[in-house]
Amino acid sequence: MSDFAPRVFSGVQPTGNLHLGNYLGAIRKFVALQESQDCIYCVVDLHSITAQLVHEDLKSQIRSITAAFLAAGIDPKRHIVFNQSRVSGHAELAWIFNCVARIGWMNRMTQFKEKAGKDRENASLGLLAYPSLMAADILLYRATHVPVGDDQKQHLELTRDIAIKFNNDFSERIAEAGLGTEIAVGEETVNGYFPITEPLIGGEATRVMSLKDGAKKMSKSDPSDLSRINLTDDAEQIARKIKKAKTDPDALPSEPKGLEGRPEADNLVGIFAALAEKTKADVLSEFGGRQFSEFKPVLADLAVEKLSPINGEMRRLIDDPGHIDAVLKDGGERAGAIAEKTMRDVKDIVGFLR
Ligand code: TRP
Repeated sequence: MSDFAPRVFSGVQPTGNLHLGNYLGAIRKFVALQESQDCIYCVVDLHSITAQLVHEDLKSQIRSITAAFLAAGIDPKRHIVFNQSRVSGHAELAWIFNCVARIGWMNRMTQFKEKAGKDRENASLGLLAYPSLMAADILLYRATHVPVGDDQKQHLELTRDIAIKFNNDFSERIAEAGLGTEIAVGEETVNGYFPITEPLIGGEATRVMSLKDGAKKMSKSDPSDLSRINLTDDAEQIARKIKKAKTDPDALPSEPKGLEGRPEADNLVGIFAALAEKTKADVLSEFGGRQFSEFKPVLADLAVEKLSPINGEMRRLIDDPGHIDAVLKDGGERAGAIAEKTMRDVKDIVGFLR
């Protein structure tokens, strides 16, 4: 156990429409955590320029992610909602972390390899440094817990590696400045400035798959809109997409074991379970033996029931950009105050004159 006050941080990139996978894998967890934790939720606009520099509609994308946070139920008064580029500490701390992290660590990141593709030499330097900016996002607030989808696990391990190396390399200075906190690392207790952040990954449907191919993740970049349920889809669109979702000809099994080798069936049952807040076993004990022609309409009704309030609220918020902008400004000011304190400490630890 560490002595750091628990704090949750997470970020979502303002690229493309949010879909059911983003909602079940991340945003819904953000909402649940705010009941018991102090939370900071960030629209990571600086990250969104790593893959593609120029965006037509970055402002509206930032507002739309913010609208999704609020529509899903995040309370921006009790917690903090803001966009990353407003708080200069993110970029500043990321620079210091660029000098902590090793190029070898970055070269091993599977997301970098995937996004850079074959032409690695031509990827932006920002894409390579992406995880160090992500570590800065988290550690600028000395966050202890980070809810993310399982694709971000490796980035969170790197965040821990950066914190450990920083704490280690500067251990004497941290202690001299009286800035250390006791942190348990395995059996040992060390004195460090940054917490060793825990990822929060898990639950049914952490990975929501494409409705057209159970082997592919649901993705905003899939050319077929029928492959995903967007958070802005209305009831009719949701019902139509579920009706057209790929399945196999067999009836549903009565136990989760029977879903093996049936990725599309597994995905729909997982979505049902996540939306109903049940386990797959519960869902199958109810629907085992039934055909998809019976299961799909029930799933569609459930999806509409859970998603249309969010969808309606999102549309309302998107029509009121003044309100969204005020939320982000207020959040940015409160995040900025925490960030400033961290940056003062970090500058003292590294040894800059200020
Ligand atoms: N890389 C994350 C993603 O693509 C987004 C992100 C940026 C993030 N900074 C973060 C997530 C900090 C959690 C914490 O999903």
